[in-house]
Amino acid sequence: MRAEITVLPGDGIGPEVTQSAVAVLRAVAQSHAHQFIFDEQLIGGAAIDACGEPLPAATLASCRKADAVLLGAVGGPKWSDPKAKTRPEQGLLALRKGLGLYANLRPVVPHPVALGASPIKSHLLTGVDLIVVRELTGGIYFGEKTRNAEAASDLCTYSVVEIERVVRRACRLAQQRRGHVVSVDKANVLETSRLWREVATRVAAQEFPDIRLEHQLVDSMAMHLIARPRDFDVIVTENMFGDILTDEAAMLAGSLGLLPSASLGEGKVGLYEPIHGSAPDIAGRGIANPYATMLSAAMLLRHSLGLDVEAKVIESAVSDALYAGELPADLSEGRPSMSTRDITANIVERIANCCCHIAELRD
Ligand code: NAD
Ligand code: IPM
Ligand code: MN
Repeated sequence: MRAEITVLPGDGIGPEVTQSAVAVLRAVAQSHAHQFIFDEQLIGGAAIDACGEPLPAATLASCRKADAVLLGAVGGPKWSDPKAKTRPEQGLLALRKGLGLYANLRPVVPHPVALGASPIKSHLLTGVDLIVVRELTGGIYFGEKTRNAEAASDLCTYSVVEIERVVRRACRLAQQRRGHVVSVDKANVLETSRLWREVATRVAAQEFPDIRLEHQLVDSMAMHLIARPRDFDVIVTENMFGDILTDEAAMLAGSLGLLPSASLGEGKVGLYEPIHGSAPDIAGRGIANPYATMLSAAMLLRHSLGLDVEAKVIESAVSDALYAGELPADLSEGRPSMSTRDITANIVERIANCCCHIAELRD
Protein backbone atom coordinates (compact mmCIF):
# COMPACT_ATOMS: atom_id res chain seq x y z
CA MET A 1 0.00 0.00 0.00
CA ARG A 2 1.06 3.57 -0.65
CA ALA A 3 0.19 6.11 2.04
CA GLU A 4 1.02 9.74 2.74
CA ILE A 5 1.72 10.55 6.36
CA THR A 6 2.22 14.08 7.61
CA VAL A 7 4.65 14.18 10.52
CA LEU A 8 4.46 17.01 13.07
CA PRO A 9 7.33 16.69 15.57
CA GLY A 10 6.46 19.86 17.51
CA ASP A 11 8.36 20.82 20.65
CA GLY A 12 10.34 19.43 23.59
CA ILE A 13 10.51 15.64 23.39
CA GLY A 14 8.11 15.76 20.41
CA PRO A 15 10.90 15.50 17.80
CA GLU A 16 12.62 12.71 19.78
CA VAL A 17 9.55 10.49 20.03
CA THR A 18 8.27 11.15 16.50
CA GLN A 19 11.67 10.28 15.08
CA SER A 20 11.37 6.93 16.86
CA ALA A 21 7.85 6.29 15.61
CA VAL A 22 8.81 7.20 12.03
CA ALA A 23 11.73 4.77 12.22
CA VAL A 24 9.25 2.11 13.34
CA LEU A 25 6.85 2.95 10.49
CA ARG A 26 9.74 2.77 8.02
CA ALA A 27 10.62 -0.67 9.36
CA VAL A 28 7.01 -1.77 8.91
CA ALA A 29 6.96 -0.40 5.36
CA GLN A 30 10.20 -2.19 4.54
CA SER A 31 9.22 -5.54 5.99
CA HIS A 32 5.65 -5.54 4.61
CA ALA A 33 6.29 -4.02 1.20
CA HIS A 34 4.38 -0.79 1.78
CA GLN A 35 5.33 2.67 0.61
CA PHE A 36 4.90 5.35 3.27
CA ILE A 37 5.68 8.89 2.16
CA PHE A 38 6.45 11.21 5.06
CA ASP A 39 5.94 14.96 4.89
CA GLU A 40 7.40 16.74 7.91
CA GLN A 41 5.75 20.05 8.84
CA LEU A 42 5.90 22.64 11.60
CA ILE A 43 3.46 22.97 14.48
CA GLY A 44 3.41 24.56 17.92
CA GLY A 45 6.32 26.55 19.33
CA ALA A 46 8.61 25.47 16.50
CA ALA A 47 6.12 26.97 14.03
CA ILE A 48 5.76 30.17 16.07
CA ASP A 49 9.54 30.57 16.01
CA ALA A 50 9.76 29.90 12.28
CA CYS A 51 6.78 31.84 10.97
CA GLY A 52 4.92 33.51 13.83
CA GLU A 53 1.93 31.18 13.99
CA PRO A 54 1.37 27.80 15.65
CA LEU A 55 -0.47 26.17 12.71
CA PRO A 56 0.93 27.48 9.42
CA ALA A 57 -1.32 27.13 6.36
CA ALA A 58 1.19 24.75 4.75
CA THR A 59 0.90 22.41 7.74
CA LEU A 60 -2.88 22.30 7.66
CA ALA A 61 -2.84 21.81 3.88
CA SER A 62 -0.42 18.88 4.18
CA CYS A 63 -2.58 17.28 6.91
CA ARG A 64 -5.74 17.73 4.82
CA LYS A 65 -4.34 15.86 1.87
CA ALA A 66 -2.58 13.17 3.90
CA ASP A 67 -3.96 9.74 4.77
CA ALA A 68 -2.92 10.26 8.38
CA VAL A 69 -1.04 12.63 10.68
CA LEU A 70 1.50 11.66 13.34
CA LEU A 71 2.22 14.26 16.02
CA GLY A 72 4.73 14.42 18.87
CA ALA A 73 3.79 17.19 21.29
CA VAL A 74 3.61 20.95 21.45
CA GLY A 75 4.36 23.59 24.06
CA GLY A 76 7.05 24.51 26.54
CA PRO A 77 8.27 27.24 28.87
CA LYS A 78 9.69 29.29 25.99
CA TRP A 79 6.17 30.02 24.73
CA SER A 80 4.30 29.98 28.05
CA ASP A 81 4.26 33.68 28.88
CA PRO A 82 0.65 34.28 30.00
CA LYS A 83 0.73 37.54 28.03
CA ALA A 84 1.81 35.87 24.77
CA LYS A 85 -0.56 36.52 21.84
CA THR A 86 -0.20 33.03 20.38
CA ARG A 87 0.53 29.76 22.12
CA PRO A 88 1.74 26.44 20.70
CA GLU A 89 -1.33 24.65 22.08
CA GLN A 90 -3.58 26.79 19.86
CA GLY A 91 -1.98 25.10 16.86
CA LEU A 92 -2.96 21.66 18.09
CA LEU A 93 -6.51 22.73 18.93
CA ALA A 94 -6.91 24.40 15.53
CA LEU A 95 -5.62 21.26 13.83
CA ARG A 96 -8.09 19.00 15.66
CA LYS A 97 -10.92 21.39 14.87
CA GLY A 98 -9.77 22.02 11.29
CA LEU A 99 -9.75 18.30 10.51
CA GLY A 100 -13.07 17.72 12.31
CA LEU A 101 -11.53 15.15 14.67
CA TYR A 102 -14.23 15.01 17.31
CA ALA A 103 -13.53 11.57 18.80
CA ASN A 104 -10.28 11.00 20.67
CA LEU A 105 -9.67 7.34 21.50
CA ARG A 106 -7.33 6.73 24.43
CA PRO A 107 -6.92 3.03 25.25
CA VAL A 108 -5.50 2.00 28.62
CA VAL A 109 -4.22 -1.57 28.90
CA PRO A 110 -1.53 -1.84 31.59
CA HIS A 111 1.39 -4.01 30.56
CA PRO A 112 2.37 -6.64 33.17
CA VAL A 113 5.97 -5.42 33.21
CA ALA A 114 4.93 -1.84 33.98
CA LEU A 115 2.65 -2.69 36.90
CA GLY A 116 5.43 -1.99 39.37
CA ALA A 117 5.87 1.52 37.96
CA SER A 118 2.26 2.33 38.80
CA PRO A 119 1.53 3.86 42.21
CA ILE A 120 -1.61 1.69 42.28
CA LYS A 121 -1.63 -1.78 43.84
CA SER A 122 -0.92 -4.44 41.18
CA HIS A 123 -3.88 -6.65 42.09
CA LEU A 124 -6.21 -3.80 41.06
CA LEU A 125 -4.51 -3.51 37.68
CA THR A 126 -4.39 -7.02 36.27
CA GLY A 127 -7.03 -7.45 33.60
CA VAL A 128 -7.65 -3.72 33.14
CA ASP A 129 -8.64 -3.04 29.52
CA LEU A 130 -10.51 0.21 29.03
CA ILE A 131 -10.77 2.92 26.42
CA VAL A 132 -11.70 6.53 26.93
CA VAL A 133 -13.54 8.25 24.09
CA ARG A 134 -12.91 11.93 24.69
CA GLU A 135 -14.95 14.53 22.80
CA LEU A 136 -12.26 16.66 21.15
CA THR A 137 -13.66 19.63 19.27
CA GLY A 138 -16.23 21.15 21.62
CA GLY A 139 -16.84 22.23 25.17
CA ILE A 140 -14.91 24.75 27.21
CA TYR A 141 -11.82 24.42 24.99
CA PHE A 142 -13.59 26.08 22.08
CA GLY A 143 -16.17 28.41 23.65
CA GLU A 144 -15.85 32.17 23.63
CA LYS A 145 -13.13 33.54 25.90
CA THR A 146 -13.13 36.94 27.54
CA ARG A 147 -10.55 38.73 29.60
CA ASN A 148 -10.30 42.17 31.18
CA ALA A 149 -8.28 43.51 34.08
CA GLU A 150 -10.73 42.21 36.69
CA ALA A 151 -12.11 38.97 35.29
CA ALA A 152 -11.92 36.25 32.67
CA SER A 153 -14.33 33.67 31.30
CA ASP A 154 -14.37 30.52 29.15
CA LEU A 155 -17.73 29.50 27.78
CA CYS A 156 -18.65 25.82 27.73
CA THR A 157 -21.19 24.86 25.08
CA TYR A 158 -22.30 21.54 23.60
CA SER A 159 -24.86 20.97 20.87
CA VAL A 160 -27.05 17.88 20.55
CA VAL A 161 -25.25 16.90 17.35
CA GLU A 162 -21.82 17.14 18.98
CA ILE A 163 -22.92 14.84 21.79
CA GLU A 164 -24.79 12.37 19.56
CA ARG A 165 -21.89 11.68 17.23
CA VAL A 166 -19.31 11.02 19.95
CA VAL A 167 -21.71 8.86 21.99
CA ARG A 168 -22.48 6.86 18.84
CA ARG A 169 -18.79 6.34 18.27
CA ALA A 170 -18.39 5.11 21.86
CA CYS A 171 -21.36 2.74 21.57
CA ARG A 172 -20.10 1.29 18.28
CA LEU A 173 -16.75 0.69 19.89
CA ALA A 174 -18.40 -1.00 22.86
CA GLN A 175 -20.26 -3.34 20.48
CA GLN A 176 -16.87 -4.70 19.42
CA ARG A 177 -15.75 -4.96 23.04
CA ARG A 178 -17.69 -5.88 26.19
CA GLY A 179 -20.86 -3.89 25.47
CA HIS A 180 -20.52 -1.51 28.42
CA VAL A 181 -20.37 2.30 28.22
CA VAL A 182 -19.93 4.67 31.14
CA SER A 183 -20.81 8.26 30.25
CA VAL A 184 -19.09 10.78 32.51
CA ASP A 185 -20.52 14.22 33.21
CA LYS A 186 -21.24 16.73 35.97
CA ALA A 187 -25.02 16.73 35.52
CA ASN A 188 -25.61 17.72 39.15
CA VAL A 189 -24.14 21.16 38.40
CA LEU A 190 -23.65 21.89 34.68
CA GLU A 191 -26.37 22.49 32.12
CA THR A 192 -24.13 21.17 29.33
CA SER A 193 -23.81 17.95 31.34
CA ARG A 194 -27.57 17.63 31.77
CA LEU A 195 -27.92 17.87 27.99
CA TRP A 196 -25.05 15.39 27.61
CA ARG A 197 -26.75 12.86 29.89
CA GLU A 198 -30.11 13.26 28.19
CA VAL A 199 -28.67 12.79 24.70
CA ALA A 200 -26.45 9.86 25.73
CA THR A 201 -29.43 8.11 27.30
CA ARG A 202 -31.58 8.60 24.20
CA VAL A 203 -28.91 7.56 21.68
CA ALA A 204 -28.09 4.41 23.63
CA ALA A 205 -31.74 3.44 24.17
CA GLN A 206 -32.88 4.11 20.60
CA GLU A 207 -29.88 3.00 18.60
CA PHE A 208 -27.91 0.61 20.81
CA PRO A 209 -30.28 -1.60 22.81
CA ASP A 210 -27.45 -4.13 23.13
CA ILE A 211 -25.27 -1.64 25.06
CA ARG A 212 -25.37 -1.27 28.84
CA LEU A 213 -25.06 2.48 29.48
CA GLU A 214 -24.28 3.89 32.92
CA HIS A 215 -23.70 7.47 34.03
CA GLN A 216 -21.06 8.68 36.49
CA LEU A 217 -20.32 12.11 37.83
CA VAL A 218 -16.79 13.12 36.95
CA ASP A 219 -15.59 13.67 40.51
CA SER A 220 -16.55 10.20 41.68
CA MET A 221 -15.34 8.77 38.37
CA ALA A 222 -11.86 10.09 39.20
CA MET A 223 -12.06 7.90 42.30
CA HIS A 224 -13.66 4.82 40.68
CA LEU A 225 -11.01 4.82 37.94
CA ILE A 226 -8.35 4.21 40.57
CA ALA A 227 -10.41 2.09 42.97
CA ARG A 228 -11.90 -0.39 40.47
CA PRO A 229 -10.39 0.16 36.99
CA ARG A 230 -11.24 -3.40 35.86
CA ASP A 231 -14.95 -2.54 35.89
CA PHE A 232 -14.66 -0.18 32.91
CA ASP A 233 -14.89 -0.96 29.23
CA VAL A 234 -15.69 2.19 27.23
CA ILE A 235 -15.78 5.58 28.95
CA VAL A 236 -17.23 8.50 26.98
CA THR A 237 -16.92 12.06 28.16
CA GLU A 238 -16.58 15.69 27.18
CA ASN A 239 -13.34 17.39 26.19
CA MET A 240 -12.03 18.75 29.50
CA PHE A 241 -13.07 15.79 31.67
CA GLY A 242 -11.48 13.43 29.14
CA ASP A 243 -8.23 15.37 29.20
CA ILE A 244 -7.97 15.11 32.97
CA LEU A 245 -9.23 11.55 33.40
CA THR A 246 -6.79 10.17 30.80
CA ASP A 247 -3.70 11.61 32.49
CA GLU A 248 -5.05 10.00 35.64
CA ALA A 249 -5.67 6.75 33.75
CA ALA A 250 -2.05 6.83 32.54
CA MET A 251 -1.08 6.00 36.11
CA LEU A 252 -2.88 2.67 35.71
CA ALA A 253 -0.43 1.90 32.92
CA GLY A 254 2.56 3.09 34.95
CA SER A 255 3.56 6.13 32.88
CA LEU A 256 2.25 8.81 30.57
CA GLY A 257 4.94 7.56 28.21
CA LEU A 258 2.90 4.45 27.39
CA LEU A 259 -0.47 5.89 26.37
CA PRO A 260 -1.25 6.37 22.67
CA SER A 261 -4.24 8.08 21.09
CA ALA A 262 -6.17 8.33 17.85
CA SER A 263 -8.30 11.35 16.95
CA LEU A 264 -10.97 10.56 14.38
CA GLY A 265 -13.77 12.32 12.54
CA GLU A 266 -16.03 11.36 9.67
CA GLY A 267 -13.31 11.83 7.05
CA LYS A 268 -10.48 9.41 6.31
CA VAL A 269 -7.67 11.40 7.89
CA GLY A 270 -6.86 10.75 11.53
CA LEU A 271 -4.40 12.37 13.94
CA TYR A 272 -2.24 10.10 16.07
CA GLU A 273 -0.32 11.32 19.08
CA PRO A 274 0.82 10.18 22.50
CA ILE A 275 -1.34 11.64 25.26
CA HIS A 276 1.69 13.13 27.01
CA GLY A 277 3.08 16.59 26.41
CA SER A 278 6.45 17.98 25.40
CA ALA A 279 8.04 17.06 28.78
CA PRO A 280 10.35 20.09 28.92
CA ASP A 281 11.97 18.69 32.08
CA ILE A 282 13.59 15.84 30.10
CA ALA A 283 13.69 17.26 26.56
CA GLY A 284 16.97 16.95 24.67
CA ARG A 285 18.43 14.32 27.02
CA GLY A 286 17.64 11.30 24.85
CA ILE A 287 15.69 9.57 27.62
CA ALA A 288 12.06 10.14 26.54
CA ASN A 289 9.84 7.08 26.45
CA PRO A 290 8.99 6.57 22.76
CA TYR A 291 6.56 3.68 23.27
CA ALA A 292 3.39 5.84 23.44
CA THR A 293 4.22 7.40 20.07
CA MET A 294 5.09 4.02 18.55
CA LEU A 295 1.76 2.68 19.81
CA SER A 296 0.07 5.76 18.30
CA ALA A 297 1.72 4.81 14.99
CA ALA A 298 0.16 1.36 15.42
CA MET A 299 -3.25 3.01 15.86
CA LEU A 300 -2.55 5.01 12.69
CA LEU A 301 -1.95 1.81 10.74
CA ARG A 302 -5.12 0.26 12.11
CA HIS A 303 -7.56 3.18 11.91
CA SER A 304 -6.40 5.23 8.93
CA LEU A 305 -4.72 2.64 6.73
CA GLY A 306 -6.66 -0.51 7.65
CA LEU A 307 -3.39 -2.37 8.31
CA ASP A 308 -4.41 -4.36 11.35
CA VAL A 309 -1.73 -7.04 11.06
CA GLU A 310 1.00 -4.40 10.79
CA ALA A 311 -0.49 -2.55 13.79
CA LYS A 312 -0.27 -5.78 15.78
CA VAL A 313 3.33 -6.21 14.70
CA ILE A 314 4.23 -2.89 16.36
CA GLU A 315 2.15 -3.65 19.45
CA SER A 316 3.76 -7.07 19.85
CA ALA A 317 7.23 -5.64 19.34
CA VAL A 318 6.60 -3.06 22.09
CA SER A 319 5.14 -5.69 24.41
CA ASP A 320 8.07 -8.06 23.78
CA ALA A 321 10.54 -5.24 24.40
CA LEU A 322 8.92 -4.49 27.76
CA TYR A 323 9.04 -8.19 28.68
CA ALA A 324 12.71 -8.18 27.68
CA GLY A 325 13.35 -5.34 30.14
CA GLU A 326 14.01 -2.68 27.50
CA LEU A 327 12.81 0.09 29.76
CA PRO A 328 13.14 3.86 29.46
CA ALA A 329 13.93 5.81 32.63
CA ASP A 330 10.28 6.54 33.51
CA LEU A 331 9.60 2.78 33.83
CA SER A 332 12.89 1.49 35.16
CA GLU A 333 12.22 1.93 38.90
CA GLY A 334 15.90 2.31 39.62
CA ARG A 335 16.93 -0.61 37.37
CA PRO A 336 19.22 0.10 34.42
CA SER A 337 17.35 2.07 31.77
CA MET A 338 17.77 2.47 28.03
CA SER A 339 17.95 5.57 25.86
CA THR A 340 15.24 6.52 23.37
CA ARG A 341 17.65 5.72 20.55
CA ASP A 342 18.57 2.22 21.80
CA ILE A 343 14.94 1.33 22.51
CA THR A 344 14.05 2.41 18.99
CA ALA A 345 16.88 0.44 17.39
CA ASN A 346 15.70 -2.69 19.19
CA ILE A 347 12.08 -2.25 18.11
CA VAL A 348 13.16 -1.68 14.51
CA GLU A 349 15.22 -4.86 14.67
CA ARG A 350 12.31 -6.82 16.15
CA ILE A 351 10.06 -5.65 13.31
CA ALA A 352 12.66 -6.51 10.70
CA ASN A 353 12.97 -9.99 12.18
CA CYS A 354 9.26 -10.57 12.45
CA CYS A 355 8.46 -10.54 8.74
CA CYS A 356 9.09 -14.27 8.60
CA HIS A 357 6.17 -14.72 11.05
CA ILE A 358 3.74 -12.61 9.04
CA ALA A 359 2.21 -15.52 7.20
CA GLU A 360 1.47 -17.07 10.59
CA LEU A 361 -0.26 -13.90 11.86
CA ARG A 362 -2.39 -13.62 8.74
CA ASP A 363 -3.94 -17.07 9.37
P1 NAD B 1 3.88 16.50 30.10
O1 NAD B 1 2.99 15.41 29.68
O2 NAD B 1 4.73 17.12 29.08
O3 NAD B 1 4.84 15.97 31.29
C1 NAD B 1 4.36 15.51 32.54
C2 NAD B 1 5.43 14.64 33.21
O4 NAD B 1 5.51 13.39 32.54
C3 NAD B 1 6.83 15.24 33.14
O5 NAD B 1 7.53 14.93 34.32
C4 NAD B 1 7.47 14.53 31.96
O6 NAD B 1 8.86 14.41 32.03
C5 NAD B 1 6.79 13.16 32.03
N1 NAD B 1 6.65 12.57 30.69
C6 NAD B 1 5.72 12.91 29.75
N2 NAD B 1 5.91 12.20 28.64
C7 NAD B 1 6.99 11.42 28.85
C8 NAD B 1 7.68 10.48 28.06
N3 NAD B 1 7.30 10.18 26.80
N4 NAD B 1 8.76 9.86 28.60
C9 NAD B 1 9.14 10.11 29.85
N5 NAD B 1 8.52 11.00 30.66
C10 NAD B 1 7.46 11.64 30.15
O7 NAD B 1 2.96 17.59 30.81
P2 NAD B 1 3.30 19.08 31.31
O8 NAD B 1 4.68 19.12 31.88
O9 NAD B 1 2.17 19.47 32.13
O10 NAD B 1 3.26 19.96 29.98
C11 NAD B 1 4.41 20.39 29.26
C12 NAD B 1 3.98 21.07 27.97
O11 NAD B 1 3.38 20.10 27.10
C13 NAD B 1 2.92 22.16 28.16
O12 NAD B 1 3.26 23.22 27.32
C14 NAD B 1 1.63 21.51 27.71
O13 NAD B 1 0.69 22.43 27.20
C15 NAD B 1 2.12 20.60 26.63
N6 NAD B 1 1.26 19.45 26.37
C16 NAD B 1 1.12 19.12 25.05
C17 NAD B 1 0.38 18.01 24.70
C18 NAD B 1 0.25 17.68 23.26
O14 NAD B 1 0.95 18.23 22.44
N7 NAD B 1 -0.64 16.77 22.88
C19 NAD B 1 -0.19 17.21 25.69
C20 NAD B 1 -0.02 17.57 27.03
C21 NAD B 1 0.72 18.70 27.36
C1 IPM C 1 -3.74 16.65 25.37
C2 IPM C 1 -3.18 17.99 25.78
C3 IPM C 1 -3.88 19.11 25.02
C4 IPM C 1 -5.35 19.11 25.47
C5 IPM C 1 -3.28 20.52 25.17
C6 IPM C 1 -1.83 20.55 24.86
C7 IPM C 1 -4.02 21.50 24.33
O1 IPM C 1 -3.24 18.16 27.15
O2 IPM C 1 -3.71 16.34 24.17
O3 IPM C 1 -4.18 15.90 26.23
O4 IPM C 1 -5.66 19.65 26.53
O5 IPM C 1 -6.15 18.55 24.73
MN1 MN D 1 -3.82 16.35 28.20
